[in-house]
Amino acid sequence: MRLANKIAIITGAGAGIGEATAELFVKEGARVVLADLNFEKVQSVAKRLGDQALPIAVDVSKSGQVKAMVDATIEQFGALDILVNNAGYGILGNVVTTDEKAWDDLMNVDLKGVFLCSKHAIPHLEKRGRSAIVNIASTISVVGIKDRAAYVAAKGGVAALTRAMALDHIEQGIRVNSVAPGIIASSYFDKLIAEHPDPEAFKKWNDARAPIGRMGQPVEIAQMILFLASDESSLATGAMFTVDGGYTAW
Ligand SMILES: NC(=O)c1ccc[n+]([C@@H]2O[C@H](COP(=O)([O-])OP(=O)(O)OC[C@H]3O[C@@H](n4cnc5c(N)ncnc54)[C@H](O)[C@@H]3O)[C@@H](O)[C@H]2O)c1
Repeated sequence: MRLANKIAIITGAGAGIGEATAELFVKEGARVVLADLNFEKVQSVAKRLGDQALPIAVDVSKSGQVKAMVDATIEQFGALDILVNNAGYGILGNVVTTDEKAWDDLMNVDLKGVFLCSKHAIPHLEKRGRSAIVNIASTISVVGIKDRAAYVAAKGGVAALTRAMALDHIEQGIRVNSVAPGIIASSYFDKLIAEHPDPEAFKKWNDARAPIGRMGQPVEIAQMILFLASDESSLATGAMFTVDGGYTAW
């Protein structure tokens, strides 16, 4: 019970890494707000997790909705100890081929969403004295990848913002870290594989991209998020923790 009596908000909790994190947090004793653009998805996750989980519809890029999410958390559970900024997505394109609106939309969710959720959550996290924010960055926060210019830029920003927030809020007892997942078999990848003309070959190619020889599972990222959200990581702040099967090691 590593999160006994803790209250957490997890954004993007309707699928993939966010959903796996919510399951683990509830198993470890936390009460969890499952926040997602897709309300049906978080409703069905909450049904499975029981009374410890509260589903909320939110677009993390909209300040008013984010404030309402934090207010609802306080109203329902009385406090907030942990914020997991997980909601995000990637798009294809270099700077020439990326549509300007698509760039703005992605930045508003992947980077501004982290800013907005943190902005509204920190006044409550501060009241608890020993609290944590975990931002989901990516291996592409530190290495380049072709044809993902907006996504690479946003995730680089998430890693940098993590360091800034860690220093700004250390005296308030808030630790801020990021997790950099490698290639994870979440619903995003399931969709890419299903849509590929040769799904089997595409899956094999993705498995071979990391030295470990396979894609990661969402729960393998959730385990690191749990560590950083819990008091077990009490000295860790301002750091990025890579979980990528060796992807950035070669
Ligand atoms: N899967 C990977 O290989 C991988 C690798 C590195 C980083 N990441 C990051 O991990 C995080 C989770 O990714 P995943 O693979 O589990 O994705 P996923 O697509 O399986 O789940 C993402 C969830 O976020 C929600 N969401 C999207 N936009 C939102 C918004 N504006 N407001 C609220 N919720 C929103 C979606 O509805 C979805 O339920 C993302 O930030 C992603 O960039 C994923």
